[in-house]
Amino acid sequence: MSLKQSYNAESIQAFLVSHLAEVVGVETAEIDVNENLENYGLDSAQAMMIISKLEELLGFKPSPILLWHYPNIAALSQRLSEESTDDSQAKDTASGTNAPVTFAVPFLDLAAEAVLDPTIQPVGNTVFITNPKNIFLTGGTGYLGAFIIKELLEVSEATLYCLVRASNVEEGKSKLENNLQQYGIWQDEYSSRIIPIIGDLAQPHLGIGAEQFESLAANIDTIYHSAALLNYVYPYSALKTANVLGTQEVLRLACQTKVKPVHYVSSVAVFESSAYAGQVVKEQDSFDDWEGIFLGYSQTKWVSEKLVKIAGSRGLPITIYRPPLISGDSKTGICNTHDFINLMIKGCLQMGSFPDVDYMLDMSPVDYVSKSVVYLSRQETSVGKAFHLQHPQPASLKSLVDWVRSFGFSLKMIPYEEWQAELINNVTSQDNPLYTLRPFLLERWSDEQITIPDLYLQARRPIISCEETLEALKGSSIVCPPIDSQLLMTYTSYLVQTGFLSLA
Ligand SMILES: NC(=O)c1ccc[n+]([C@@H]2O[C@H](COP(=O)([O-])OP(=O)(O)OC[C@H]3O[C@@H](n4cnc5c(N)ncnc54)[C@H](OP(=O)(O)O)[C@@H]3O)[C@@H](O)[C@H]2O)c1
Repeated sequence: MSLKQSYNAESIQAFLVSHLAEVVGVETAEIDVNENLENYGLDSAQAMMIISKLEELLGFKPSPILLWHYPNIAALSQRLSEESTDDSQAKDTASGTNAPVTFAVPFLDLAAEAVLDPTIQPVGNTVFITNPKNIFLTGGTGYLGAFIIKELLEVSEATLYCLVRASNVEEGKSKLENNLQQYGIWQDEYSSRIIPIIGDLAQPHLGIGAEQFESLAANIDTIYHSAALLNYVYPYSALKTANVLGTQEVLRLACQTKVKPVHYVSSVAVFESSAYAGQVVKEQDSFDDWEGIFLGYSQTKWVSEKLVKIAGSRGLPITIYRPPLISGDSKTGICNTHDFINLMIKGCLQMGSFPDVDYMLDMSPVDYVSKSVVYLSRQETSVGKAFHLQHPQPASLKSLVDWVRSFGFSLKMIPYEEWQAELINNVTSQDNPLYTLRPFLLERWSDEQITIPDLYLQARRPIISCEETLEALKGSSIVCPPIDSQLLMTYTSYLVQTGFLSLA
């Protein structure tokens, strides 16, 4: 057990410079202590490596969130030196745990963030087009985006212009193709109808040259905006550029030269404020409350959807789709193995225990979500509305754990606090996928000192109604598959077959 040590800001600064340089693979001379830490592109695994090194030095575990909340190394070192000389935050030796030391997070007024550039105004009249010929889509290299591409190609004859981060068109094209292949939904005949547009959400005008931006603005008929940076560890400030400002640039494209309807993939997370706890929230309900949304990612989704709503109030035709967690394809079981549910199952199996919490399995299969988005987007009655792609009959998390056990895996349910202590003390390397999620699972927020998972306890969550969405889907053959043993068998089989889960 290491003891808490006192260090001045200079020595912490030198330590951080040398370890940051090592982790991001540059010379120490290239690290500027006044440079914004975000600009070094640290991912959550690298952040955890630095935090582990800091723990060895300081004798207490600083919150990983600090790496994003403090603007630069100089400011962070100053803060850490104050902590290292403050005895009140000493290691919790009484409980024998090695819990992170918590820090006050800077106040963020989300309502003040929801300001749409006043120059973004729809130009000209809107006519609803049932069969758009040219579609602009973001997020096509992601999970949901791949399935939306497939569905759009299946139900329409449109050409899809897909925003991709790549160094050239060829690379962009293969990134899109490989992504659909990875999910088992690629067909060679799709190729000629998928056109990569090299760009970046985080850049002004989506990182597309002015000429191409204008050409798209003049020729695109409809936009699907599914891209976002999904990260459960980064704070709002690290996600804002891609998620919030990126959405603003999409809205700019939609309004420029001719009006193009925007189909925006949001999230049920917009109702994460404590104000909605226990309340039924319907599709068209307002979501003005934001206090108590702590996750940076959810904060960006709240602000982004607000921007989309503002554009709607200026006359842009908008439709909003709010999925819950998106699970695997109900037919094949193919899924995003990096998503939260899968990482949690794998990590808990490695730990041998699952937290005994009152959660509902807030998940819908990706084929249900993508088919619903595309079907609803093609109905004129959807304009101006929001839809909840929530599972109509969610199951309890316990039923998932029972299922996993019945498959032969050994997993015990233990009280949440006990599980957290095991996570702190025993999950100490990246061998367990929960390691990089530890800040998300353990960080304590607000006066109540609750963790983000505490916020998802059933008692703190809203009841997301999807009645209107089911009504709107009635004219289609789209039905959300039940979360039953057949679906869970499909999912588990895929995870075992691919080696993601091992029965041994
Ligand atoms: N997955 C869920 O459980 C879930 C639940 C509710 C809502 N949603 C929403 O659904 C949408 C799709 O989620 P997903 O699961 O498909 O996410 P994903 O698999 O992580 O895909 C994210 C997509 O966004 C793109 N992207 C991120 N930053 C970008 C940037 N700076 N410039 C251009 N593209 C960028 C990624 O491109 P790269 O390939 O270049 O990284 C990728 O194509 C998101 O808006 C998300 O908020 C998802």
